[in-house]
Amino acid sequence: MGIDNQLATFENQFKPLINTLLVEQLPNDVDQPELADSMLYSVAAGGKRLRPLLTIAVIQTLSGQVAPSQMKAACAVELLHTYSLIHDDLPAMDNDDLRRGKPTNHVKFGAGMATLAGDGLLTLAFQWLVDNSLPAQTKVNLVTALSRLAGPAGMVAGQADDINFENHQLGLAELKRLHRHKTGDLILYAVTAGMLITDNLAYKAELTQFADAFGLAFQIYDDILDVTSSAEHLGKPVHQDAVKNTYPNLMGLDRSYQELETTIQNGQAALARMQDENQVDVSLLSAFFSYFQF
Ligand code: IPE
Ligand code: IPE
Ligand code: MG
Ligand code: MG
Ligand code: MG
Repeated sequence: MGIDNQLATFENQFKPLINTLLVEQLPNDVDQPELADSMLYSVAAGGKRLRPLLTIAVIQTLSGQVAPSQMKAACAVELLHTYSLIHDDLPAMDNDDLRRGKPTNHVKFGAGMATLAGDGLLTLAFQWLVDNSLPAQTKVNLVTALSRLAGPAGMVAGQADDINFENHQLGLAELKRLHRHKTGDLILYAVTAGMLITDNLAYKAELTQFADAFGLAFQIYDDILDVTSSAEHLGKPVHQDAVKNTYPNLMGLDRSYQELETTIQNGQAALARMQDENQVDVSLLSAFFSYFQF
C-alpha cells in the first residue's frame, strides 16, 4: 500500500467516527439553544480534523488498535481547536469573515455569541477529557498537558505575540517561537495525548521531535498558502497576512519552501529513528507529511 493510500484509508475509517462523535455528543452538553447552535455551527462546518486524527494515529502506532472508549478524549482537542479558530477570526483579532467554507461564527451569530461559543468549546474540551471511562491518572495527565500547551504558556501565548507584533518584523528565531506556540503547541498536545491515552512514553523524545517539526511545518505551510492558494480551495480568506509575522513576509516564498522542507526532514528523521532502532511501524505517522504539497 502506498503511503498516501495508507493515510487515505486511515482517514476514511476515522474521520466519520470523529464527526459523528462531535455532532452527536456536543448538543447533550449545552444548555442554551442559541449557544448550542453557535458551537455546533463551527464544529459541524468541517475542517480536516488533523489534531484528533494525529492523536488516533499515535494510539494506533503505539498499541496497534484504537478502542471506542478512547475516542471521546481523542476528540476533545478538536473542540479546543475550533474555539481557537472562532476567537482568531473575531473582529478584534484577525477579523476574517470566512472559515471552513462558511461565514465566520461572529458574522453568523454576532461577536458576543461567537465569543461565548469559543468559551463553551474551550471549557467543554476539558470536560470531555474527564467525562469518559479512561483511568483517573490518564485524565489528570491529559488535562495537565492540554492546559499547559493550549493555555497562557502555549497557544494563547503565541496568539498574544501574533497580535502584539503586528507591523513589527520579528527575526527568524522569534518567528519560530511564535509559530511553535500559536500552532505547534496544540499539535504537540495532539501527539502527546496519543502517548498518554496508551500510557506509553517509550518514544516520547522521538514523537515530541516529530510533533514539533510537524507543527512548525504546518504554520509555515499555512503562511505559504495565504500567498499561493485561494479562498475557494482553503475555505478561508487569503492574502490576509500583510501585517503579520509570516515566513513569506520575512524571507520570501522560495526560502519559505526551503525552510518547510528542512523542517519536514527533521520530523521524518525522528520517525526514522523509531523505525530503525525499535522496529516501530511509523508509516502512518510519516504519511501525515503528505499534507505538504510543493
Ligand atoms: C487552521 O488550522 C489554523 C492554523 C493553525 C493554521 P487547520 O488548517 O487545521 O484548520 P481546519 O481545522 O482544517 O479548519
Ligand atoms: C492560527 O493562525 C493560529 C490559531 C491558534 C488559530 P492563523 O491566524 O494564521 O490561522 P488562519 O490562517 O486564520 O487559519
Ligand atoms: Mg491569527
Ligand atoms: Mg487567522
Ligand atoms: Mg494563517
